[in-house]
Amino acid sequence: MKHTKSHAKVRKAIFPVGGLGTRFLPATKSMPKEMLPVVDKPLIHYAFEEARAAGIEQFIFVTGRNKHSIEDHFDHVYELQSRLSARDKKKELEQTSDWLPQAGNISFTRQQEPLGLGHAVWCARHLIGDEPFAVLLADDMVLSKKPCLKQMVGAYQKTGANILGVMDVPRAKTSSYGIVDIDAKARTGDARLVKAKGLVEKPSPDKAPSTLSIIGRYILQPEIFDILDKQKPGAGGEIQLTDAISGMTSKKGVYGYRFEGTRYDCGSLVGFVAANVAYALEREEITNVMIDEIEQVFKRSGHTLCK
Ligand code: UTP
Repeated sequence: MKHTKSHAKVRKAIFPVGGLGTRFLPATKSMPKEMLPVVDKPLIHYAFEEARAAGIEQFIFVTGRNKHSIEDHFDHVYELQSRLSARDKKKELEQTSDWLPQAGNISFTRQQEPLGLGHAVWCARHLIGDEPFAVLLADDMVLSKKPCLKQMVGAYQKTGANILGVMDVPRAKTSSYGIVDIDAKARTGDARLVKAKGLVEKPSPDKAPSTLSIIGRYILQPEIFDILDKQKPGAGGEIQLTDAISGMTSKKGVYGYRFEGTRYDCGSLVGFVAANVAYALEREEITNVMIDEIEQVFKRSGHTLCK
């Protein structure tokens, strides 16, 4: 596929944060799942940084009940800042507010009921308008050299289509994901990019058309809102984003992009704990002590790393 014309820039990103986070109870009883920290930053902060690194200029959060701390996180905190300033704590001040988006470039809208991811995205339709946009689920973290969304923006610039972040999963796990029905005849000229002829939300392993699974990174065309306007509840009784995207395969086209990097499912307990270990090991100032600590933990618990 040749890069023939330039496509509208992806300037806006939606962060759906309206879910209940029941898998993290009791932690999520009074705090949003998206504020759980991996090492020392909340999940939502990583997603925000990834979006910014991909060239996103406007950040749209779809919140729900119990999510005020997300709004507070993306605002000044004057009392703390003045105390840090009085004590000349420059690094801490930077960590508190230097990264804030410019006023007016961040918006919050409310999903009054958690009716599903498709519904959460639809709630942001008036803030997006008629342009392509990204969707990032904060509970999917991708540890990679080049930020995952930035890789996908490259694929979008080639196609002008809808781009989904995808990875292969064991067949036994297809019922936890949206799965791509691959158009094997379509040539994309990029080994990481595959064309979809359909998508299936959470198919059982025997019914899954492939093992290529959609993770929480999307670049979507605004026509998705026309489909979401009429979208009926799907798997789990929720309005599914996957079902709506499936309706775009015959229009502007849907592609899966096999991103480079490791994805951590921080919506699950094991994925979240694994992400903490992986991201801590990435921090040079603590890598060696972390390795020592992990070795000690294994010794004390009687477990061994080699099976
Ligand atoms: P999940 O499928 O992980 O659901 O949502 P959840 O409610 O957050 O968590 P569990 O399954 O009860 O533990 C993935 C992302 O989509 C958002 C969530 O906030 C999360 O960031 N979401 C989900 C919404 O914004 N609205 C919804 O109706 C559902």
